[in-house]
Amino acid sequence: MNKKVVLTGDRSTGKLHLGHYVGSLANRLKMQDEYKQFVMIADMQALTDHAEKPELIRNSVMEVMLDYLAVGLDPKKTTILLQSMIPELSELTMYYLNLVTWNRLKHNPTVKQEIKQKNFGESVPAGFMVYPVFQAADITAFKADIVPVGDDQLPMIEQTNEIVRKFNRIYKKEILKEAKAITPQIARLPGIDGNAKMSKSLNNAIYLSDEADVLVKKVKSMFTDSNHLRVEDPGKVEGNPVFVYLDAFAKDTKKVNEMKEHYQKGGLGDMVCKKYLIEVLEDFLSPIREKRKELEKDKKYVLDVLLKGSIEAKKTASQTLKEVKEAMHLISA
Ligand code: TRP
Repeated sequence: MNKKVVLTGDRSTGKLHLGHYVGSLANRLKMQDEYKQFVMIADMQALTDHAEKPELIRNSVMEVMLDYLAVGLDPKKTTILLQSMIPELSELTMYYLNLVTWNRLKHNPTVKQEIKQKNFGESVPAGFMVYPVFQAADITAFKADIVPVGDDQLPMIEQTNEIVRKFNRIYKKEILKEAKAITPQIARLPGIDGNAKMSKSLNNAIYLSDEADVLVKKVKSMFTDSNHLRVEDPGKVEGNPVFVYLDAFAKDTKKVNEMKEHYQKGGLGDMVCKKYLIEVLEDFLSPIREKRKELEKDKKYVLDVLLKGSIEAKKTASQTLKEVKEAMHLISA
């Protein structure tokens, strides 16, 4: 068995939403059947910009686990692990930090953008500045071939591969492996307010765990096309969140295409489209919601999946660390 290795991670600080599903969970569900897959809850990375809120991070670990299992990640096929349970990752990070310049870190485009968004200025936590190197440790510890991520994460994979090449060149051993990023077809799902990105902080998300009445309310309030005022007006479907969601979740593509044509011609009201979207999303969400409720009754089991996964993952990380130390002529037991 020489399956390719997939590794991904989430540093979510709360429940997962439809944007996460489209951007990464859907891919992971497919990949778990074909590859050896590791999915990491990156709690230490989450702490790099939430040091003052450890209880938030602790609670998110359970929320994200519940979402993972409810949506169909199968512990028999996917190893789910908790970053903070694998100290080998931190040790690898310290070695890799010597291979990266401060200047390079300052110019990582995603980190730069985040510093701006979070208004960090000069007070950016040092841990936050180096998280791309920590992420390189996550990826290389498992010798991942494939890293499925959103396009905002491409600079991290690029930086990882720079570290890999430098390490192998300096220490004259091909120990670390370059990874390939895979980005999803629909890179991001708009928010219900029409913002280009669904996100918790923008308060425009539909969560995998939303109750049916919450779903109805959210869809009914969705932004559509600001020029589609009367039913008879022609409407725009490109970038219209209702149709973007239908494209992502409706199985009956013929019906969606007919609706789109009708909407563009004029004569199809927003409410009719929204009612159909409610039906489609409720079909998708109700089994996830039910399964989540079952799992919530047995949090010990849920935590156990994570602990077992972490213990298994630790073996792989520890083997890589050993090879790394040997290549660096460090003493290792
Ligand atoms: N940086 C990723 C994010 O912001 C999370 C993450 C941590 C990750 N470690 C990873 C993603 C390893 C891919 C591979 O969402």
